[in-house]
Amino acid sequence: MQATAIAHPNIAFIKYWGNRDEALRIPLNSSLSMNLDALSTTTSVEFRADLQQDDLVIDGLNASPDAVQRVSAFLDIIRASMQEKDLKAIVISQNNFPMGAGIASSASAFAALAAAASKAAGLDLDEAALSCLARRGSGSASRSIPDGFVEWQAGNSDENSYAFSIAPADHWQLVDLIAVVSRAHKPVGSSTGHLLAATSPIQNARVSDCQRRLEICRRAILKKDFSTFAEIVELDSNLLHAVMMTSSPNLLYWEPPTIAIMKKVLEWRLQGLRVCYTIDAGPNVHLLCQVEDAPSIEKLLQAVNGVETIYRSNPGRGVQVF
Ligand code: DP6
Repeated sequence: MQATAIAHPNIAFIKYWGNRDEALRIPLNSSLSMNLDALSTTTSVEFRADLQQDDLVIDGLNASPDAVQRVSAFLDIIRASMQEKDLKAIVISQNNFPMGAGIASSASAFAALAAAASKAAGLDLDEAALSCLARRGSGSASRSIPDGFVEWQAGNSDENSYAFSIAPADHWQLVDLIAVVSRAHKPVGSSTGHLLAATSPIQNARVSDCQRRLEICRRAILKKDFSTFAEIVELDSNLLHAVMMTSSPNLLYWEPPTIAIMKKVLEWRLQGLRVCYTIDAGPNVHLLCQVEDAPSIEKLLQAVNGVETIYRSNPGRGVQVF
């Protein structure tokens, strides 16, 4: 009753923010993302009769009680389908990127956990069912199950809210340059942020225009049309942060270097460089460009004040189970 899985985090081009069902993590809008090949989480799960409680080790350290509780609640969903419903598990998870780097790890964490735990439990889930399961742990984890460029259809039930691949990882050599500007732990995590989304007077406008943006973005990816892609990705990120800044209490994730990078990207684009930015629930900035432009953009980015580290990633595969 042991299995191991490896999953990559993903960067959303069209973002998920706000749930229609909090308990089931059914989102208000569909979203679109790319898996990040260079970053990964490897997780092994073993269900054992001799354990009194679930045991969670992350990057060699015993996890916090909050993390154990989130993982135990997730394992309970799997245990409900097992014959031996009382079996506790030992979960060992290793990231190849520092947890404190401000790079969201819940997507790769819950995608790897869903795949490893369901296999260890003897469940034989197809990709959609696995994506639904991962979603219960963290919404964005649903998108780390399929390969490459991925769409998560919002759906309206536990069974039809899952992600699927719209193009494989080798479809388009996009590069994500992640500019880490702060390693501080974010003050308000995504799960709390989703709860606040509805308090913003512009969340409805963001959500009601979302399908239009997603279709433009999907078409741009399929046609490898970078300028259309860049425009819609930045619009979607700006709308997300507008909602965050206008919720109550409001969320302002940006730090001075975040804004400095955004301004530089606009400047570089006016000079003819093909690059755009997108930002999640934190101060770090993801710069997206095509592979041939990545070296020059990375060099320019290195010179911006406040950039601590840059992670560079190509499109990544879906989850793999051993
Ligand atoms: C801003 O998937 O981290 O990165 O479901 O509560 O775990 P939970 O939230 P999470 O939210 C991701 C928010 C985002 C946008 C995105 O990735 O789509």
